[in-house]
Amino acid sequence: MPALPHLTTAAAEETVRSRLDKLRDARVVVTGGGGLVGSRLVALLRSAGCAVTVLDRMDAYPESGHETFGVARSGARLVVGDIRDADTVGTLLREADFVVHAAAYADVAACTRRPDIAFRANVEGTQVVLEQAARFPVRRLVLVSSASVYGNGVPGVEGPQVFREDMPLDPVSVYANGKLWAEHQTRLMLGAASGTEYAVVRYFSVYGEPQIPKPGSHSWMVPWLSLQARLGRPMRLNGGGNQVRDLVHVDDIAEATALALTEEQMAGQTVNVGTGRPTSVREVADLIAPYFPGSRRIVTPRPDGDPLGGYACVERSRELLRWQARIGVREGVDRYVRWLLETPEAMPRWLAEESGNPEEA
Ligand SMILES: NC(=O)c1ccc[n+]([C@@H]2O[C@H](COP(=O)([O-])OP(=O)(O)OC[C@H]3O[C@@H](n4cnc5c(N)ncnc54)[C@H](O)[C@@H]3O)[C@@H](O)[C@H]2O)c1
Repeated sequence: MPALPHLTTAAAEETVRSRLDKLRDARVVVTGGGGLVGSRLVALLRSAGCAVTVLDRMDAYPESGHETFGVARSGARLVVGDIRDADTVGTLLREADFVVHAAAYADVAACTRRPDIAFRANVEGTQVVLEQAARFPVRRLVLVSSASVYGNGVPGVEGPQVFREDMPLDPVSVYANGKLWAEHQTRLMLGAASGTEYAVVRYFSVYGEPQIPKPGSHSWMVPWLSLQARLGRPMRLNGGGNQVRDLVHVDDIAEATALALTEEQMAGQTVNVGTGRPTSVREVADLIAPYFPGSRRIVTPRPDGDPLGGYACVERSRELLRWQARIGVREGVDRYVRWLLETPEAMPRWLAEESGNPEEA
């Protein structure tokens, strides 16, 4: 794959920090700000001088997941509540300058198992946030969407595909369908006429310390494979591990999302947030294995709704967001595994107490 040219414009020379100066003293509401991405974004916004309010149910993880993410220590105001509660959302938005809507039932497998919960959180909840953003206009709402809206990309194409923002979308999971609906509804309800600008960011596969997977999930391969190896269990390669993902570090995700609030050209636009590079599940296992001598692998069936995957076309995010990812997968995996080794208390009890995999090959 050809190396991506680095941004050479004056924009790239300005640091992200100085560009975020525009947000100093801004009042920002982050729905889902207690989750993995949200809490990293909140920390960044706080360091940029924003007054941040988080609205989150704080129940997406068992044990101390949310505590590990640290939003309670970030200096943000934490409102524990549901985005479907219109009064609460309205009260918060009435006093806000910007909104990032990141709250979601954010797991592909869980949404497949419980489409009812997925609908309530990802569709109904988003509707409430959009209604309140139209009623109490803010300067801009950033909707967090997902590369899952591309589904398997163009039918019949062999090998990893590049996903461009303007290609036909064909979600293959309940989760992805909700994200696509949310994108369309945002475009239909917000924009100039409503008084609230919007921007849509499509994240590719987010990873990075202190990410811990949810029980029953098959997403988030960096923590899954690392935790299995750490427990001395074989790393499970679903469907042979040939699926590819564009792995984008949570620090990069936080920067891109914060910039989507301020970049003028992002008004009314949708951009991919990825690295522009595909990595297969197998390649991730190869990067993790040296940290766990003697680690083994096992091939397991590919779960329903698990797309073959692709990687981001990053032209638009470079042009409109004036951003590109900075953390490569080798560095990101190294950071993750080192954190895991240094933080034994991060190992979830529910996972450690599982019986492991009896069908090792
Ligand atoms: N992690 C990824 O790889 C990835 C990829 C693409 C898109 N995304 C999107 O990024 C966003 C953040 O995801 P994440 O990975 O940090 O997941 P997460 O589960 O860690 O964070 C989501 C947060 O939303 C909260 N939430 C869920 N339903 C809610 C409700 N009804 N009311 C209030 N709060 C609610 C949860 O408690 C959780 O803290 C989500 O919109 C997700 O769909 C994530």
